[in-house]
Amino acid sequence: MPPRILIAQDETDHGRITCDAFLDFIHQSSMRCSVVLPTGNTPLPFYAELRAHQGKIDFSFLQLDEYMGCAPHSETLFSKWIAREVLDPLHITDRFTFNSAADPSEEVARIRAHMSSFPTIDLVVLGIGQNGHIGLLEPGTDFNCAASLVEMAESTWDANCAYWGQDIPRSAVTLGFQELRKARQTFMLALGVSKAEALYRAFYGDVTPECPASYLQTMNNVTIIADRGALSLFPI
Ligand code: PGA
Repeated sequence: MPPRILIAQDETDHGRITCDAFLDFIHQSSMRCSVVLPTGNTPLPFYAELRAHQGKIDFSFLQLDEYMGCAPHSETLFSKWIAREVLDPLHITDRFTFNSAADPSEEVARIRAHMSSFPTIDLVVLGIGQNGHIGLLEPGTDFNCAASLVEMAESTWDANCAYWGQDIPRSAVTLGFQELRKARQTFMLALGVSKAEALYRAFYGDVTPECPASYLQTMNNVTIIADRGALSLFPI
């Protein structure tokens, strides 16, 4: 099934369209949905829109990825970022977050065990790296991998240092393809011409571990929500 494509005029429009699609999905379900949400700059307009729905929406949050080796209260943690942007303002209390300060192999085992209790995940929202990564599944990752301890690619690490204006750890934990493939619905968010090549390779290139996002070609119910810059190489 080819992906649905929603085209945004600008960042604000991207936030609005993503928020509408998210709310439509959440409200279709009579049960509380399980939702994986990403960090990064791309979803920030979406989260800004979502905050206006405080008190009217609830879901179970599942973390996508996290730096390993940060102090538990470090402001640079992805879990803190997503809490500030969405979970605290919306009063979402059901959260499965990763422990950056834990022993990495024990943490990976805990994440795998928890995620294996989900036969499906209702909605997975992803961004894309310029190198085609999703979550922190970097180029070369086996499509069969479960949640894992990973080393960030150099370009990913640089981009992550830029978020904080300081060095951050190079290792991280991320959900794997085994978890992401449980999604009943996947939203791929992309903004800006800097993502155009990665987005094109993801949906028009070979399905290859060299472009982790190309895995989404094997999945049903994928919605791309992107602006014209990110879609500039698409034949549309
Ligand atoms: P960005 O990051 O939203 O800050 O561009 C996305 C990603 O690297 O997955």
